[in-house]
Amino acid sequence: MNTRTSPPVFVTQPSLPPLEEFLPYLQAIWDSKTLTNGGPMHQQLEKALCEYLGVDHIALFCNGTIALLTALQALDIQGEVITTPYSFVATSHSLLWNRLTPVFVDVDPATFNLDPARIEAAITEHTTAILPVHCYGIPCDTTAIQAIAQRHGLKVIYDAAHAFGVEDTGGSILRHGDLSVLSFHATKVFNTFEGGAIVCHDATTKQRIDRLKNFGFIDETTVAAAGINGKMSEVNAAFGLLQLKHVDQAIEARRQCFELYRSGLADIPGIRPGIDGGIAKANHAYFPILVEPPYPLSRDELHARLRAHGIHARRYFYPLISDFPMYRDAATGQWPHAAHLSKHVLCLPIFPTLSNSVIDTIIALINGSTNATDSGKRRAGDGGAVD
Ligand SMILES: Cc1ncc(COP(=O)(O)O)c(C=O)c1O
Repeated sequence: MNTRTSPPVFVTQPSLPPLEEFLPYLQAIWDSKTLTNGGPMHQQLEKALCEYLGVDHIALFCNGTIALLTALQALDIQGEVITTPYSFVATSHSLLWNRLTPVFVDVDPATFNLDPARIEAAITEHTTAILPVHCYGIPCDTTAIQAIAQRHGLKVIYDAAHAFGVEDTGGSILRHGDLSVLSFHATKVFNTFEGGAIVCHDATTKQRIDRLKNFGFIDETTVAAAGINGKMSEVNAAFGLLQLKHVDQAIEARRQCFELYRSGLADIPGIRPGIDGGIAKANHAYFPILVEPPYPLSRDELHARLRAHGIHARRYFYPLISDFPMYRDAATGQWPHAAHLSKHVLCLPIFPTLSNSVIDTIIALINGSTNATDSGKRRAGDGGAVD
């Protein structure tokens, strides 16, 4: 029996609005002949995002990685920075590019995020900042992190690449820390093809960031810092304006996928979906599951099983950042929880156009059903990609 889905289903699929809706934006750019350098689209998107996200200041970037590099420069971070080994490698690469020393601290296995109880023990006289990640869009323990930062005079820069639109009971989680960094990469809940942003709290910091992302220029003839070219182009900004009109619908569609997975996987021994408790407004950027005994397959065996059926789940985050060669020598600690997650977490496909029938197929495959294809076929009327 051929149980391969056709075409393959990847862990995510970029959200794209109807092409014809984008053409007027392109026409406006053609008319203005302003392609970059903080043009009208860029200005409109900054304003629209501040309103949508409920933040005071945002500086757009060409991608999240350059935004991270610039955030560290903007606060003049030096020495050692406490961060998580359980993230995408760009988090700590931003430290190496700034000649900073990452100090990895273990995560709380319930939230996938830096465990505040372990942060304090890692602080030395050289520590100047904490770089936590809201992993999978699950909020960090921001209250505990803020208390530690205050006690020790540390800056906090949140890598909020996964956390577009996420709110806790007090509002946007982007209000926490000194700065938050977003990614608008194609794989993210809100994408501008490539893109990113820094959220900050005051106009002076915003001005400093805006100068740093434009080579350090203050005016035509004055360069005040060794800045970089981190600007977002007008085409990307225009696309962001259009995406913003569709993002609530996209998050709602993700929520429906989430609910289907949650109910379908609830009774499979050894399969544990990641938490959503305590998130006032989630974005359902990822659907992580833990694969542990008594489930009969290892995480890697389940990954291979799904792949053999055309389902490309991803082992986010494996390997741990601390296991990559450029970190291995310096990273001497033990991170048992992060190591466990890295071996046991599998992120299942989740994106707005993922059909119910494909989700049913994935659940059936995880359940060990050999009739996965039949299960998909019975519901093929909803646009499923199962053959
Ligand atoms: C946690 C995290 N930080 C940083 C980045 C880098 O963002 P970008 O791809 O926009 O450079 C990503 C992903 O892309 C990420 O997942």
